Amino acid sequence: MTTAERAPDHSAAHRICAASDLLEGGAGFRFTLEQGDHPPLQAFAVRHAGRVSAFLNQCAHVPVELDWQPGVFFDEERRFLVCATHGALYHPGDGRCAGGPCRGRGLRPVPCYESDGSVFASWPPTLNGPQP
Ligand code: FES
Repeated sequence: MTTAERAPDHSAAHRICAASDLLEGGAGFRFTLEQGDHPPLQAFAVRHAGRVSAFLNQCAHVPVELDWQPGVFFDEERRFLVCATHGALYHPGDGRCAGGPCRGRGLRPVPCYESDGSVFASWPPTLNGPQP
């Protein structure tokens, strides 16, 4: 068995939803990331190009949640994640800024993966969002 074939270590991850809850370009799944004494962090997961990705639910422009209506993260074309407040756009695969007031700052990714029909996320989120 190679490293890539090794079963995921679920001990450091938390199940957040069923894999079928995340449809391609559909509603995101909001969840709370908790770890020890650290204050809980709001996060969300989406599916794009067949893959699941997760981010802290915090815009890089002003630290507010992205979704005006809970779970609505994609723009109308379902190409980018969009902040409802001022329209910053982010790449759904890695959270990079795709334009608007985020000015090159990205979302903070949360490690996640799919296994056995479920989506798992783990601590910690990335400290700094991806750069363009
Ligand atoms: S708060 Fe998100 S674009 Fe301004």
